[in-house]
Amino acid sequence: MAFSVVVLAAGKGTRMKSSLPKVLHPIGGKAMVQHIIDTVNELGATNIHLVYGHGAEQLKAQLNHNKLSWCLQAEQLGTGHAVQQAAPYISDEEDVLILVGDAPLIKPSTLQQLISIKQKADLALLTVHLEDPTGMGRIIREGEQVSAIVEHKDASEAQKQITEINTGMMIMAGSDLKRWLNNLNSNNAQGEFYLTDVIAMAAAEGKTIKASHPSSAIEVEGINNRMQLANIERAFQFEQAQQIMAKGVSLADPHRFDVRGELTVGQDINIDINTVIKGKVSIGSNVNIGPNCVLIDCDIADGASIEANSIIEQAQVGENCSVGPFARLRPGAVMAEKSKVGNFVEMKKTTLGKGSKANHFTYLGDTQVGEDANIGAGTITCNYDGVNKFKTIIGDGAFIGSNSSLVAPANIGKNATVGAGSVITKQVDDNELALSRAKQKNLSNWNRPTKNCN
Ligand code: UD1
Ligand code: CA
Repeated sequence: MAFSVVVLAAGKGTRMKSSLPKVLHPIGGKAMVQHIIDTVNELGATNIHLVYGHGAEQLKAQLNHNKLSWCLQAEQLGTGHAVQQAAPYISDEEDVLILVGDAPLIKPSTLQQLISIKQKADLALLTVHLEDPTGMGRIIREGEQVSAIVEHKDASEAQKQITEINTGMMIMAGSDLKRWLNNLNSNNAQGEFYLTDVIAMAAAEGKTIKASHPSSAIEVEGINNRMQLANIERAFQFEQAQQIMAKGVSLADPHRFDVRGELTVGQDINIDINTVIKGKVSIGSNVNIGPNCVLIDCDIADGASIEANSIIEQAQVGENCSVGPFARLRPGAVMAEKSKVGNFVEMKKTTLGKGSKANHFTYLGDTQVGEDANIGAGTITCNYDGVNKFKTIIGDGAFIGSNSSLVAPANIGKNATVGAGSVITKQVDDNELALSRAKQKNLSNWNRPTKNCN
């Protein structure tokens, strides 16, 4: 049966102590509500009604790429009142799956199971047993049948002993939901319109109410403060680590591995501790990644080795390349196969040809280096005159002596040599040696200055 989703996300999230709406706080680099939207899209929902209140501008700015129906709940009068805001857009003929915006780890398979249980009942409810159910709505049962949900603040001492709680996620027919919503009142301990009251209404009509459970309680755990945010983040990251290890990646410590985006991997990859991966990253087979590397929107080809403390962003590392330690590849850095970038080397919009090396203390910006070139220690491409940027071209087999400045636009020919310490301002043709350093002068019998004693 066709179904639509209502996501409750109007709460302020006061305990986050943040100017960012709670549901925009990221888990794995993605807003928690976006996790839910993605999960729901995977299930094929017809419409997603997002009930929002606080932080409307920020929500709309961050979620604008989604197809959403925006339902404003100007005043937060309770979860039932929140769903009422979406009611005008819900058709009688569809099922309505209600989710909360602050439980981002809910799995598609768990929701799929809830949806299929609804096929055999009038209302299906996702519940879970908690060791400490304090604060949660308790599931009241008469025999097998669920008959009501009682909120913690309204519960009797006996009801507070119940450990089966309402996760806030449920599904029912649109026509039923709308009828029940019309009958809600706020005669309760919190003076709110409780969505949970629809359960007793359903039971009173003789409807069948069935409960299903998530595979683990973490899936339905809501985030209300930064500690819970961190706990959910760790759970999410550990799960990603397990998935990646299952594909043939060795992680020195699955608890010190963070993917905030999408990672595709080959096999026989070793990743040391504290790697952070952001955006879209692909890593080929037989790749070693040292400790403390940051990889952002980049491709690392087969056989590459990324040494400790390297940062690679919007860059491409070719087959069997070596990077770092302490290298920085900035946007537009491209390393062809078997090229090498060593410590304290920075590259930006620069291609390093096959087998070429820049092993120590170097800046290469807006540069094209051919094959088998050697860029000596301390080479700087002076690509910026304070206003404009200019290109440097270094030919195949060129040798740039240490501590040279190549003032762009610069053109160094094939197999050309630049003497150490040169400042290059003119074209260097193929096979030429260019030297621009001052001639060495030696003064014999030089008397060192002595200290003045008066
Ligand atoms: C609610 C349930 C409770 C359940 C718990 C699970 C009710 C009355 N109680 O508790 O049975 O155990 O969730 O976490 O439904 N929201 C709105 N508008 C509002 C109020 C809430 O959009 O006016 C949203 C919040 O942003 C949040 C979700 O609804 O995403 C749940 O609200 P919250 O206040 O955390 O739930 P409780 O009332 O504590
Ligand atoms: Ca809550």
